Amino acid sequence: MGSTRTVAVLGAGTMGHGIAEVLAIHGIQVNVRDIERRFLDNAKQKIEWSLKKLQEKNQINENAERIMSRLSFELDMQKAVRDCDLIIEAVPEDINVKKDIFRQLDLYTKSSAILATNTSSLPIGEISSAVKDPSRVVGIHFFNPPVMMKLVEVIRSTSTSDKVVRDAISLAKEISKVPILVQKDVPGFIVNRLLVRMMVTARLLVEKRMATVEEVDSVLKYGAKLPMGAFELADYIGLDVITFVEKAMSQRGFHVPLGTLIEDKVREGKLGVKTGSGFYTYTKEQPKPVIPLELSSKINSALILAPSVNEAAWLLSNSVASKDDIEVGVKLGLGFPEGLLHMADEWGIDVIISSLKSLYKATGEAWLEPQQLLLSMVSEGRLGRKSKKGFFEY
Ligand code: 3HC
Repeated sequence: MGSTRTVAVLGAGTMGHGIAEVLAIHGIQVNVRDIERRFLDNAKQKIEWSLKKLQEKNQINENAERIMSRLSFELDMQKAVRDCDLIIEAVPEDINVKKDIFRQLDLYTKSSAILATNTSSLPIGEISSAVKDPSRVVGIHFFNPPVMMKLVEVIRSTSTSDKVVRDAISLAKEISKVPILVQKDVPGFIVNRLLVRMMVTARLLVEKRMATVEEVDSVLKYGAKLPMGAFELADYIGLDVITFVEKAMSQRGFHVPLGTLIEDKVREGKLGVKTGSGFYTYTKEQPKPVIPLELSSKINSALILAPSVNEAAWLLSNSVASKDDIEVGVKLGLGFPEGLLHMADEWGIDVIISSLKSLYKATGEAWLEPQQLLLSMVSEGRLGRKSKKGFFEY
């Protein structure tokens, strides 16, 4: 889509403002639209802060003011979208809100415009049922924070046209992202399915008193060398967002027990970093949680990540993703130091299965049942690095 020069971003929240910033950095004119002036003002401030940081580190080629001049902040939907070639919707994960937006887009956009959604969890096909021509609707899913995470998932519904998919991929490349094409419109696509399994397991371990919040995070951060622990990341994403995402996925057949740990926090208004407290407390002096290094060997990191490996096996068996997509997805979307399947090969596929079995024993959760692919790998002696063959050959 080399000619894309005006894009509208709908929703100026965490994802919307970050997406708008990335587009503007890459020379694209952006109309950011939200329903209240204060949301737009907040987004503007955050983009200014972020551009200043990037400028200090010479990570942008132009000065911040020039990039800011490409952004306009609008309350009027029609004005924001009418001249655009591409619209990226990034409003809350509520199917009714999204469908309402897409009904408006049907009325106000050029018929040639691509209508993209940054949904994390809702099927593209469901959202596109709100427009007359669903062939122009596509998923373009960014990761938080959009300026720093290189991955973009491009998702096609059964109606999305090939040209629209190609244009979405070109746009992702134009803004220096690495796109992976999600082959099937399944809830949570690729990366969020893997992430949610890890997050739910982390919560179950704490709820069943098998570990503490700090122990889980220490194991993941210092043991598995992930950039953030599961609870630290949950606070960063927002516990309200996680609740929306997991409920939407659960309602569509991807079983995830939300559990009391997160529900209690949300009820108390403790939504994570943005409210100053979630699983951890955040202050100006202490903007990041302190996760003790000495807890990092309390449990095996394979225990927390085995359900994600099991989910990866499901994605492979159902032709939703290739091995490469899974590896690129977790590295560039979640900042993993290496691919999940390579990590599984290091731990051993037999260890993954025994971890799933012990989690099942402790929780009784049916979704922990090992995928046939993993069972076959073990019965064929493909145990990972130790047998020189697992998901990969060594
Ligand atoms: N813009 C500009 N600068 C930023 C920034 C932003 N948005 N965010 C952070 N920075 C700056 C910081 O201020 C800091 O500056 P300083 O050095 O001057 O203090 C610098 O970047 C480094 O920040 P950190 O020390 O926090 O950097 P890290 O090395 O820890 O990297 C991170 C931060 C990239 C967020 C890293 O922790 C990470 O990769 N975390 C995992 C994130 C992740 O998993 N995201 C995906 C979530 S799932 C999702 O989004 C899907 C959705 O559908 C739910």
